[in-house]
Amino acid sequence: MCGIIGYCGKEDAVEKLLYGLKALEYRGYDSAGIAVFDGDEVISVKSEGRIGNTEALCKEKGLQGFCGIGHTRWATHGEVSVRNAHPHTKGRTTIVHNGIAENYNELNRKLKERYDLISDTDTEIVCALIDSIYSEIEDPIEALEIAKERINGSYAIAVIFSDIVDTVYGICQDSPLIVSEDENGMYLASDITAIDSTDKLYYRVTNEVAVLCRDKLQFYRKGEKVIPESFNADRNMRKCEKDGFSHFMLKEIHEEPDVIKRTLDRYVIDGIIRFPFEDILTSFRSIRIIACGTALHAGMTGAYLIEKMAGIPCRYEVASEFRYNAPEDMSGELAVIISQSGETADSLAALRIAKELSAVALGIVNVENSSVARESDIVLYTSAGAEIAVASTKAYTAQLAIIYLLAFKLAYKKRRLSLNEQRDLCDCLYREIPDAIREVIEIKEQIEKTAKKYAVCENAFYIGRGMDHLLCEEASLKLKEISYIHSEAYAAGELKHGTISLITEKTPVIALLTDPFVFSKTVSNIREVKARGAEVLVIGMSKAEECEYDALISLPETDPLFAPFTAAVAFQLFAYYVALHRGCDIDKPRNLAKSVTVE
Ligand code: AGP
Repeated sequence: MCGIIGYCGKEDAVEKLLYGLKALEYRGYDSAGIAVFDGDEVISVKSEGRIGNTEALCKEKGLQGFCGIGHTRWATHGEVSVRNAHPHTKGRTTIVHNGIAENYNELNRKLKERYDLISDTDTEIVCALIDSIYSEIEDPIEALEIAKERINGSYAIAVIFSDIVDTVYGICQDSPLIVSEDENGMYLASDITAIDSTDKLYYRVTNEVAVLCRDKLQFYRKGEKVIPESFNADRNMRKCEKDGFSHFMLKEIHEEPDVIKRTLDRYVIDGIIRFPFEDILTSFRSIRIIACGTALHAGMTGAYLIEKMAGIPCRYEVASEFRYNAPEDMSGELAVIISQSGETADSLAALRIAKELSAVALGIVNVENSSVARESDIVLYTSAGAEIAVASTKAYTAQLAIIYLLAFKLAYKKRRLSLNEQRDLCDCLYREIPDAIREVIEIKEQIEKTAKKYAVCENAFYIGRGMDHLLCEEASLKLKEISYIHSEAYAAGELKHGTISLITEKTPVIALLTDPFVFSKTVSNIREVKARGAEVLVIGMSKAEECEYDALISLPETDPLFAPFTAAVAFQLFAYYVALHRGCDIDKPRNLAKSVTVE
């Protein structure tokens, strides 16, 4: 999704801004641009497509300067075009903008007489608004404070005024904006990875106006100088090299064994789960897990496990639907918000609603200091490190790891699991599962051979029962998001109630078969689709060899309770190789963004 960068200092601003934009690429974008003070004139350069296009244009124009702002755009208002790309300029004001101005129609009505609006964006209207206020009061800080009052919705904006040379301003509302300084200058960005500063303190802009000059950094609130909340950068989150792998996704799959260990290291001490909020866990009558996409799929497995192991009523909710499903009162409920980025707008909105309804909010988050982490009452971190590929892999297994710990802990609190049983389960997850995952990674050439055969299909089904069905949801999402093959996840027994009419010899069925409890029933469903010509790929442990299949991805023998970890890595690799053989842009699939910051 959209990303913002700003720089003001001693070094080449064009280079710093392009560095920031490249670091923001992983979030997903379709156009990019920068605006720089070239001497005392503001010059904007923008292009559709990759940052390389903007970079080439900057070279062509010989753009240089020490201060500027930049943006990667993921289209929300208006098509992908140079006309709609940021920065936008109106009068003396040039801005880049993340988020949505929800009242842009109303603002437009007031401003269209005065400004010639040429794009389809809400950003241009916001730019006109700031310029109009600045023209009236001629005070940039006050103008931005007034503009903040008039823009509805969540947003982050970086601004330059053509008559205030070499100064960048930043404001935001419920959308991240981070500022840092080092010996080379001042930096502002929507995402810490975009800041090319040495390991210094970071400031989080919330209600302030940030003012970045070449030699000083200041923050104002209601006209008064203030020092906003600060934090130390997590170096781990800033490391984003492919380390010899052809794609971030493949690299991140290879990291999964270590990620699980790292995640457990944080909360398991001598085999005992230690959460920082032990007492609270006994006080809930029910649990609601709320998330989007992959995080939601981890939550589905969580809801299943928590009910089964701890006997506590637990349901999952699609975050973007939650406001329509929310109960009248959530007191006595634990709302678990799962999010890799911690910035997903739908999940954040659900978290706020749950809190308003008196639920206690537990965030399961990968990014420390992210909005979900800060706004949750209690937090558990997945120690997955920076996940760059749009398709989530290591964050998913890390989320599963935390959710398993939560289920074990709740089961222990409900006296359904003894301390020794808890220790044995944690031990298995820590000692056996990372190695079992490594075994799956070792057979990646074989998975690739199988995947190559399936790369020609245009439709596929994933089937399974129980936990396998929940895994199918994630397996199917992985395939569609990176290979563009249409795929559906089905409860194996549900197919015959209508959907089986879609099965032909051209529709492969991928069956997940890890749960011994439902084995024979799923095998019957496999027979049904085979009888209708489908080619069947089975993913399962040795028992799966007993069923009829066309291809098999054999998982190492583990306790079936933990099979989701090995199965996940197998279906992630499968999706990866299918996409590879279809020539897809694996790390940056079309239309997608890593961090979805609009509702
Ligand atoms: C998964 O591969 C996706 N990229 C997507 O579904 C993602 O999981 C979802 O947007 C939620 O993101 P979050 O975990 O950062 O909140």
